[in-house]
Amino acid sequence: MPDKARLGILISGTGSNMAALLYASRLPDSPYDVVLVASNNPAAPGLALAAAEGIDTFARDHRGLPRAEFDALIDAELTRARVTHVALAGYMRLLSDGFVARWAGRMVNIHPSLLPAHKGTHVHEAVLAAGDTVSGATVHLVTADLDGGPILGALRVAVVPGDTPATLAARVLHAEHQLYPRVVAELVGSATTPEALLARVRSLALALPEADEKLSHGSPGFFVRGGKFFAYFSHDHHHDGVTGLLVKASGVEEQASLIERDPDLYYRPAYLGPSGWIGIRLDTGEVDWDHIDGWLTRSWRASAPKRLAAMVF
Ligand code: GRF
Repeated sequence: MPDKARLGILISGTGSNMAALLYASRLPDSPYDVVLVASNNPAAPGLALAAAEGIDTFARDHRGLPRAEFDALIDAELTRARVTHVALAGYMRLLSDGFVARWAGRMVNIHPSLLPAHKGTHVHEAVLAAGDTVSGATVHLVTADLDGGPILGALRVAVVPGDTPATLAARVLHAEHQLYPRVVAELVGSATTPEALLARVRSLALALPEADEKLSHGSPGFFVRGGKFFAYFSHDHHHDGVTGLLVKASGVEEQASLIERDPDLYYRPAYLGPSGWIGIRLDTGEVDWDHIDGWLTRSWRASAPKRLAAMVF
């Protein structure tokens, strides 16, 4: 049984979705624990509930701080609490690009409409003004596109004749509380599937300058434009039963010493072994992603044309 995911929740107000996530995490078989509730509003009522339930909290008024600086404070708290996934629950702050990139694929938001309809604020007023007969709630991955990231789940809610924005909001909120814990559980539970591992490798590899991807002998390969391949994602290659990342070591000597030092993590890739590539297992249950990022960067540098490598690092 792999370790449970460690969920950090960001709130600005009531925190009823935070409460729903928290109590769901205390049911048997939850694949995540809530380890931190953080807020840009020290008066957010949800903070008191989290504290009363024994959850670590962090609150800091965002006013007067540049966005990226405030996000760095939040990020430091998430890192300190060893958070693996982030749920935004009524967090009324736009996030800086750096923060969004750092949590790509691991940060979700809930929105009180059936996205892509009615993004932004004043959602229920907009639903009623449009004469919609159905509304709902949507959970999506957070990307730089506000309320526009990939949709992970949605629940429909009927609009009742005579609804006001307040009555509709209250009913949609019931649906949100059912939907959010379910989708978060699915997301964190799927973190070790080959698809999720590839998505994570891809987001790190393609964040490197001039990096691009194409299939190579059936494996996703990452290369520097105008340069060479610097990484391959290998899944059950020729039925070896292994999911791993192949990157360039300095040569066969380093390859051998890495494998000797940590034979559970490193392996000699069957086909690229003689040229000094090293395999790093991604199927160990717990991946050290900073370590993977470090190897990708190093391998990228070894593969990039000199002018580019010199320019960037
Ligand atoms: C919810 O309606 C959520 O969809 C939206 O903000 C509201 C937060 O409510 N993003 P709460 O703080 O979780 O009670």
